[in-house]
Amino acid sequence: MIPCSMTVVKGIFRLDLLSFFTVFLAIMAEVPGGSAVDIDRVSLSYGKFKVLDELSLKVPRGISFGLLGPNGAGKTTLIRMLVGLLKPEAGKVTILGQHSSSKIARLIGYMPQLQSLYLELSIKQNVDFFARIYRLDRDDRIHRMEEVLRLVGMWSRRDDSVHKLSGGMRQRVSLACAIVHQPQLLLLDEPTVGLDPELRVIFWQHFRALTQRGASIIITSHTMDDAAHCEELAFLREGKVIARGTPDELRRATGKSGATLEDAFLYCIRREGKTGV
Ligand SMILES: Nc1ncnc2c1ncn2[C@@H]1O[C@H](COP(=O)(O)OP(=O)(O)OP(=O)(O)O)[C@@H](O)[C@H]1O
Ligand SMILES: [Mg+2]
Repeated sequence: MIPCSMTVVKGIFRLDLLSFFTVFLAIMAEVPGGSAVDIDRVSLSYGKFKVLDELSLKVPRGISFGLLGPNGAGKTTLIRMLVGLLKPEAGKVTILGQHSSSKIARLIGYMPQLQSLYLELSIKQNVDFFARIYRLDRDDRIHRMEEVLRLVGMWSRRDDSVHKLSGGMRQRVSLACAIVHQPQLLLLDEPTVGLDPELRVIFWQHFRALTQRGASIIITSHTMDDAAHCEELAFLREGKVIARGTPDELRRATGKSGATLEDAFLYCIRREGKTGV
């Protein structure tokens, strides 16, 4: 009898442990801190023109998440809202568990679609400027400046003014400025535009290294090459998310074998009952 009851007790204990972990994981998935970004029915307009339309999107932590959509879909507007530069007129945004991006500004890195570098300053001065904005102390600034400039392959050009650099080199410096303070959330608005294929590969190596260290990345892009590198994607159109999933899930949703991400994108847009802009 005793061994039998012990077995039952052990069984119950195991079941309890199992249900404890199930509940724990369910709670962790629901607490605001569980997501890098949680956007809940957000609307935003420029004048009378609604650019984000009750948009909802949850982005898990520690992955590269891609936002794809045609010109004018609202990608940049969404990123600018996450950075705290634009205020939604309705809905709720939670970033790294906080309701206000200003409280966690230090934890966010932002690379805008249009570069915001100071052309007359040197590469070093630009990176130092951003490091100061993020309040890195002197030792950290010196150490991180070298680290990020080596990472993007611009250390040897560190004393050159930005106006002497090519477009791709400026992109590299912009990335260095965005990551100098080791942000937990990196918002990258078309960071790979104008990069040659080799540099694109290098950028993605950096992005993967950052997510492996626990950072979360949200990246906008028009290229299916970038999309394929992301762990998850959302397709945006007219301020709404029209599909989301892993690249494989989105490809499979077309129902066609051998479908590309481009096929998946066009399929989702046509499924919405429209045929492109
Ligand atoms: N400052 C502004 N004032 C008025 N309208 C704006 C402003 N900024 C953007 N818009 C409009 O909002 C819409 C969304 O623009 P947004 O820049 O977010 O699109 P996007 O998806 O980033 O496009 P792209 O792929 O071309 O970068 C567009 O119709 C654009 O004209
Ligand atoms: Mg844009």
